[in-house]
Amino acid sequence: PLIHRSDYQPLAYRITEIALDVHLDPENTEVSARLHFLRQNPEPVKEIHLDGEGLELLEIRRDGQLLSENSYVVNGAGLTLLNPEADFVLETRVRIHPAANSALSGLYHAGGQFLTQCEAEGFRRITYYQDRPDCLAKFTVTLHGPKDTCPVLLANGNCVAQGEDAQGFHWARWEDPYPKPAYLFAMVGGDLAAMRDTFTTQSGRQVALEIYVAERDLGACSQAMESLKRAMRWDEEVYGREYDLDRYMIVATDSFNMGAMENKGLNIFNSKYVLASPETATDTDYQGIESVIAHEYFHNWTGNRVTLRDWFQLSLKEGLTVFRDQEFSADMNSRGVQRIGDVRRLRAAQFPEDAGPLAHPVRPDAYSEINNFYTATVYEKGAELVRMLHTLLGKEGFRRGTDLYFERHDGHAVTIEDFVEALEDANHTDLSRFRTWYAQAGTPLVKAQGVYDPKAHTYTLTLSQSTPATPGQAHKEPVPIPVRMALINTQGEKTALDSRGDREKVLVLEEATQTWTFTEQPDPVIPSLLRGFSAPVRLENPLDDQSRSFLACVDDDPFNRWESTQELALQALLAGTQNPGTVQHFPDALERALAATLQDGAMDPAFRAELLSLPSEDYVGEQMAVIAVDAIHQARDALLSQIGHHFHDTWLNLYHDLAGAYARDGLSIGRRRLRNMALSYLVYSDRHREDDMTLHARQQYVQADNMTDRLAAFQLLVQHPLHDAEDILMDFYQKWQDYPLVIDKWFAIQAMAPRADALRHVQHLLVHSAFDWKVPNRVRAVLGAFTVNHTVFHAADGSGYAFFAEQIRRLDDINPQTAARLATPLSRWQRYDEVRQKAMIQALQLLAAKPHLSRDLAEVIQRAYPSG
Ligand code: ARG
Ligand code: ZN
Repeated sequence: PLIHRSDYQPLAYRITEIALDVHLDPENTEVSARLHFLRQNPEPVKEIHLDGEGLELLEIRRDGQLLSENSYVVNGAGLTLLNPEADFVLETRVRIHPAANSALSGLYHAGGQFLTQCEAEGFRRITYYQDRPDCLAKFTVTLHGPKDTCPVLLANGNCVAQGEDAQGFHWARWEDPYPKPAYLFAMVGGDLAAMRDTFTTQSGRQVALEIYVAERDLGACSQAMESLKRAMRWDEEVYGREYDLDRYMIVATDSFNMGAMENKGLNIFNSKYVLASPETATDTDYQGIESVIAHEYFHNWTGNRVTLRDWFQLSLKEGLTVFRDQEFSADMNSRGVQRIGDVRRLRAAQFPEDAGPLAHPVRPDAYSEINNFYTATVYEKGAELVRMLHTLLGKEGFRRGTDLYFERHDGHAVTIEDFVEALEDANHTDLSRFRTWYAQAGTPLVKAQGVYDPKAHTYTLTLSQSTPATPGQAHKEPVPIPVRMALINTQGEKTALDSRGDREKVLVLEEATQTWTFTEQPDPVIPSLLRGFSAPVRLENPLDDQSRSFLACVDDDPFNRWESTQELALQALLAGTQNPGTVQHFPDALERALAATLQDGAMDPAFRAELLSLPSEDYVGEQMAVIAVDAIHQARDALLSQIGHHFHDTWLNLYHDLAGAYARDGLSIGRRRLRNMALSYLVYSDRHREDDMTLHARQQYVQADNMTDRLAAFQLLVQHPLHDAEDILMDFYQKWQDYPLVIDKWFAIQAMAPRADALRHVQHLLVHSAFDWKVPNRVRAVLGAFTVNHTVFHAADGSGYAFFAEQIRRLDDINPQTAARLATPLSRWQRYDEVRQKAMIQALQLLAAKPHLSRDLAEVIQRAYPSG
């Protein structure tokens, strides 16, 4: 059953108010709901449909009267009220089963806590409702629970009353003054401790900040709390947005399908994005917390105050909020390094999605299960579209646009179109061609051609674009592509591009092909194109290795400087895959670029580490017609070992010089990153010599006083093919067995180890006593990590796929959302050789044949292999 964007119908009835009364019990929770319905139009309607799933209806009344059997219909999809009045009050009482809810959607009981996840369509698993984002109502919630196991009872908004029930039970009533869609509803019950702080808004209001975790984790909340305060301040300063309730609560849980959820005033988080201490969390974990905490906070305006009309508009809140969290992180840390990381993620997840059978526009046209559309395209590409709008309008223009957007649409459920119109109106500009970006799937390819005329002193740049066909979209239109650019002369300086003397410009490529001529260029120049990755496209810029190497040393745009080195490394890797024997040659241009970075002790170490890292196996594979799994792995290992060997002494010096006491500032983080990179290159350079670099790693593993260093060494040792790490695996497990987030790392690093007996090893992980099918983090740590263990997952005999499909079958009965998401790598079968294609299709067919296949997984399989 496909739902189409064009089928949108406004609600016939509003629900103005909802009052819930919930008696929490793991086995049998009772939910009473009182809904005020108000018809929107004078004309009567035949019926109203309320969504409901897995609810046991115990009682139903209209305006206080028990409803007769012939005035409503209940089925698996919900409740239909027949011949409703113009306005009335509906009361229902239902029974649900939180402990049995392993899908983690709706109300569930996990780790001793009651939690909810209502986005996208979980609320219908709690009570009968018009569960769609354009139904905005005022919520009041009264929670009842046992005092011993649920001393804390939370819901959205303000706690307005509380009291004692009979024998060991108590209650709390919460009121949210802001009308909201049901997907933003949340409630929590459990034995939780709170870390508390306050924030004073720019207008002087005091907001109580509370982070709820298990008592023993109270000491691990400071990164989350500090990040929250920074995010609140940043949104005031950069967007003029202030928080609107007296209280902002965050609850952490180990059992969560996604990263976190922006429920109004009561965020619920995967504990991975809340808890951190130097001993248990890596620098990357700390950064993840900062960005997800900010992301959920920013949703309060982009998502909550201004919400979605329907789920096709998902990127309206997600693309915009990802853009906002990326910019926040860029302001808090190094902008260049942040951008490189953002692009790396986009290329790793979104480009492949856009090039495969799951490709869809940022604003999709149809879905079967909306949870399958929380994708890299909606989030990350969506953020890139907002970034382009920001580039096209400029910082001030963009701010004028968002001011108008908030002013016009506060309290409403709107569309992407409304957003674009607000930007247009605020800037008296026309973005009609830009809209194509939202409607059209696929990654545009931009080809550049430059000609320098030494007589006329001109440089002529021709750019052309094309977008490959995607499923259901054979024909593609050109899109406006902002190409930020500069011309760099032989001295490494940016030249003046026009009479005003601008040295950087944003060209907007709108047609299939366009040409620009830059005059008064007395010297030959090299173009630096798509600076800062100004558009989510693939760029073909035919520069020779020497020019690339030059840019890698002099370009003042951090992204392009990085990109130039990456491109050189990519070419070396691709050459290596052609000819596995000859990887021994280490191209001069790459050598020069790396040497320049290695020698530049003044450079920010985090940026230096970026410049020195090789493209991932995935990225290399993306550039090949047929992904040569084993050849890529070998070529990359060989190049790592070459680089390690060639610069052995430099790496060793870096390793020793960068040692230092643990601190959490940016410089220290960068130094750790670079130092661990040095260690990794050293270990790789020694792998055929079996000398003592692994001893350094062992020593670091033992002596480290922080998880970043410990884990880096641990990973090297566990994944080193010649090293026996049994003792270290045991040691790590024993040390950290009480820290689920650390044990997730222990599982993931093993599942990613490309060892000879890897498949058997992963099978063992699944029967380990600490493995738990009901905890998504744990399942992802093994099965998700397994899919990026390329040589094992993609083993030519199909064993990896077959094993994987078996596990997804099993998971689908427990948690369909997570199963569907984990299964997506199988959709990329077209990219492999025939033997692997066959085996991947077989795996998809095995899944398709599963009894009780969930709608989530069915849709992914159907799109991945439409004829299956
Ligand atoms: N809105 C959340 C976020 O991006 C994601 C929640 C998605 N949940 C889901 N079940 N699809 O912050
Ligand atoms: Zn979000």
